[in-house]
Amino acid sequence: MDQVQESPVKRLCKAHNRIFVNGQFPGPTLEVTDGDTLEVKVINKAIYNVTMHWHGVRQFRTAWADGPEFVTQCPIRPGESYTYRFTVLGQIGTLWWHAHSSWVRATVYGALIIHPWGDYPFKKPDKEIPVILGEWWDRNPMDVVRNATRYGAAPDISDAYTINGQPGDLYKCSSRGTTIFAVKAGETNLFRFINGALNTELFIEIAGHKMTVVGADASYDRPFDTSVLMLGPGQTTDVLVTFDQAPGRYYLAARAYVSTQGVPFDNTTTTAIIDYGTQTTKPGKKSPAFPKLPAFNDTDTATKFAESFRSLETVKLPQPVDENLFFTVDLGLFNCQPGQKCGGPNGTRFKASMNNVSFVLPSNFSILQAHYHGVPGVFTTDFPAVPPVQFDYTAQNVSRGLWQPVPGTKVYKLKYGSVVQVVLQGTNIFAGESHPIHLHGNDFYILAQGFGNFNPKKDTSKFNLVDPPLRNTVTVPVSGWAVIRFVADNPGVWLMHCHLDVHINWGLAMAFLVPDGIGELETLEPPPNDLPVC
Ligand code: C2O
Repeated sequence: MDQVQESPVKRLCKAHNRIFVNGQFPGPTLEVTDGDTLEVKVINKAIYNVTMHWHGVRQFRTAWADGPEFVTQCPIRPGESYTYRFTVLGQIGTLWWHAHSSWVRATVYGALIIHPWGDYPFKKPDKEIPVILGEWWDRNPMDVVRNATRYGAAPDISDAYTINGQPGDLYKCSSRGTTIFAVKAGETNLFRFINGALNTELFIEIAGHKMTVVGADASYDRPFDTSVLMLGPGQTTDVLVTFDQAPGRYYLAARAYVSTQGVPFDNTTTTAIIDYGTQTTKPGKKSPAFPKLPAFNDTDTATKFAESFRSLETVKLPQPVDENLFFTVDLGLFNCQPGQKCGGPNGTRFKASMNNVSFVLPSNFSILQAHYHGVPGVFTTDFPAVPPVQFDYTAQNVSRGLWQPVPGTKVYKLKYGSVVQVVLQGTNIFAGESHPIHLHGNDFYILAQGFGNFNPKKDTSKFNLVDPPLRNTVTVPVSGWAVIRFVADNPGVWLMHCHLDVHINWGLAMAFLVPDGIGELETLEPPPNDLPVC
């Protein structure tokens, strides 16, 4: 049972009230075993609407438990409750949960760990440690986003990043709370990294220690060694670390990866301490070793990391492809309308879109409820399979005429069981930027990533058809593209969106509608009795 409620908390020298789950920040870690069915009752005692999302859980036939407000359910209003029921099956590793209603997720999130029945396909770790990165605002994040939305402006940048809720030694008034991982020399631990930040991709590094990546987004991967990780919001990575250096204290540090030039960003660094030397932890002894960390704009390192992922085993890739989709991922601007307040560049409002459609959430129904009960007028099924206008997507100066997305609640309707391939093409319409694109309800294979415009003639040959990684969030590189493939065998309405929350607010989202198949196992379960109404 999870109570969502305001609690007092001190961060960066100030006292605040923030919304937490059961008074904890981060919220409770859910530890389950593959095949378990979960029932989580969420009681909303906050003053905002709340929904909960089980990020990465496939929600097979239980789309009602997926969570995004106005997509699969109406929000849980203050004073109300809703019980999420779902089964985790065939996904092993690290997922997480977070609120999926406006920016409540800034402080409402936690780890969801799924253990296998048997052994890991890698050396059994001596200990497992969830490490959730977050983003902290001194102002109430709900006010930050409300203000930005009113003016169509970019929201204030955050004041800190956090590791397991704590900013760490490099921030004012924060040393005492710094997260410390007490470990043992010679042991190997499994760090379960989750990027829970709202708007920032993060580089993560541990001083003096090699990391061995063994999985991501609750799928095993072929192990590879790296000195640095890059996680976009939404992504998780499981990493083995052996404490084989001189006993002592070592910083684990994270800071932004910023793919665009000239935009303001939070350039601070969050730290935790890995401690395996009691001698050196006494006050007055030398401070922990610090990792190098890549430059903020080190796209090469981010790319090299993303390209290192392979599935642990050879994949039986779904084929042939039934739906070949091409979606652009755009940041754009709206001209100011009379009577509007506009806080974007040169008196405009920020808007974002996919295939030039800027996603608008319904306000009186969820899309899934409307689909299930056949309520007309809530959404349309005309989301385009390809961009309405083709242009040089990654040209230096994309013509202003292409900068005006069309607002709409459009879904793309798939046939049950179809094999879907999507080229996600970044554009340079306001600015090229790297986008962590997350698909609900389905894992997908990442076949390839690259820069510039996707060229079917030469880029198809770069597809990894042998052992592509299976994930739920893919980084579409700055001014580049990524290709994903999945099977639409899960009935429901599945949001696909950029996990930088500021971009969702601007409309960088769409949804797939997967109707029922034929048999009972191909059919969405009926809605739970306590499903909130709007
Ligand atoms: Cu992690 Cu739509 O969410």
